[in-house]
Amino acid sequence: MKLLLLGSGGREHALAWKIVQSPKIEKLFIAPGNAGTQQVGENVPLKADDFEGIKQFVLREGIDMVVVGPEDPLVKGIYDFFRDDAALSHVPVIGPSKAGAQLEGSKDFAKGFMQRHHIPTAAYQTFDGAHVEEGLAFLETLQPPYVLKADGLCAGKGVLILPTLEEAQKELREMLGGMFGQASARVVIEEFLSGIECSVFVLTDGKDYKILPEAKDYKRIGEGDTGLNTGGMGSVSPVPFADKAWMQKVEDRIVRPTVQGLAEEGLDYKGFIFFGLINCGGDPKVIEYNCRMGDPETETVMLRLKSDLVELLCGVAEGNLACRPLEIDERSAVCVMLVSGGYPGKYEKGFPITGINDVQGSVVFHAGTALNADGQVVTAGGRVIAVSSYGKDKAEALARSFAGAQKIHFQGQYFRRDIGQDL
Ligand code: AMP
Ligand code: GLY
Repeated sequence: MKLLLLGSGGREHALAWKIVQSPKIEKLFIAPGNAGTQQVGENVPLKADDFEGIKQFVLREGIDMVVVGPEDPLVKGIYDFFRDDAALSHVPVIGPSKAGAQLEGSKDFAKGFMQRHHIPTAAYQTFDGAHVEEGLAFLETLQPPYVLKADGLCAGKGVLILPTLEEAQKELREMLGGMFGQASARVVIEEFLSGIECSVFVLTDGKDYKILPEAKDYKRIGEGDTGLNTGGMGSVSPVPFADKAWMQKVEDRIVRPTVQGLAEEGLDYKGFIFFGLINCGGDPKVIEYNCRMGDPETETVMLRLKSDLVELLCGVAEGNLACRPLEIDERSAVCVMLVSGGYPGKYEKGFPITGINDVQGSVVFHAGTALNADGQVVTAGGRVIAVSSYGKDKAEALARSFAGAQKIHFQGQYFRRDIGQDL
């Protein structure tokens, strides 16, 4: 098979690493990829949302399957673009239709969907610019802290958690006044839930599903979960509190009703579902849906997936996922993310990265890297390198990832030393 993977981050390098382990794969292309994906496949200089460019490439190379890493092309309808084009409709796209991707693309849609299917989540109301006063009054009925969510995609910046009513009311006015453009034309205000978060990943063919290993990510820049939010500073799998009993609740109350709800509503969905969950006193509730895998969760989840990922993806495409085996590695996996100095604020790019080949006993996934004119690996983003390791337990995996992270050097590098310590 010839497979095209769209995206350019650590998630995509981890997916690529796993995909090329399949004997089914003759050739893997990654568009646009990074310096790491280049080592396992061939990078193609196409943006993940350049549908016309992707079409020409897929037809020219005879691509058999397209796997979509990030949400953007899905929310923009790449699945529908392929399905509705006579020349492309024979090529399966792993990812939901535009309508299905609304689970991530519209917070208001996701909340309504959960309400219709009795899926546990925070209580909420949605307001638009014509109902600012009602929104301000609704905030007065809630207890702090206040959770405001821009309805549309905001590159991870659309959720605000405010400690006081005054700040919440001010931010609500600003969001509805165009703070995030069209994405905050509607704002979801919801009840604050407290508990530990856990990411659960499912692969579905629209009828059946497989639950992949769960993971926990670390979003804040600072140790002890302090400071600004980032794309994710590390991840751990498995998550100790997500034991058999808890995961059974997740499956019965959340996963199955979601997959059945998608089918009942006629939402074409053949791909990954990411359930952002929170453990509220032993009961899982949904914080958010994403229509893709998580980053940096994929950098541990792929380590723990023993089965051939391409077999599973073929099961999704052919609608026979139920008969494809899913085997999980019992070991722990931990990922530590090395980031650029200044991230998630302003940072510089283009610094040479050294020491990658000195790392032993870990898998080094590239996130924001590129090759410069001399063929040297340089920094090209905020999150630069994900060092992932196995261990017989979390402590051993952590120790390996930290040892690996310490061997890699670039100007201004930073990583959190407390990944997994809270569990
Ligand atoms: P989201 O983009 O929806 O994942 O939200 C970003 C982060 O905000 C989540 O990972 C949570 O840490 C936090 N968050 C979102 N909604 C809530 C909520 N209702 N209660 C508490 N924390 C929340
Ligand atoms: N790690 C969270 C995300 O991928 O959205």
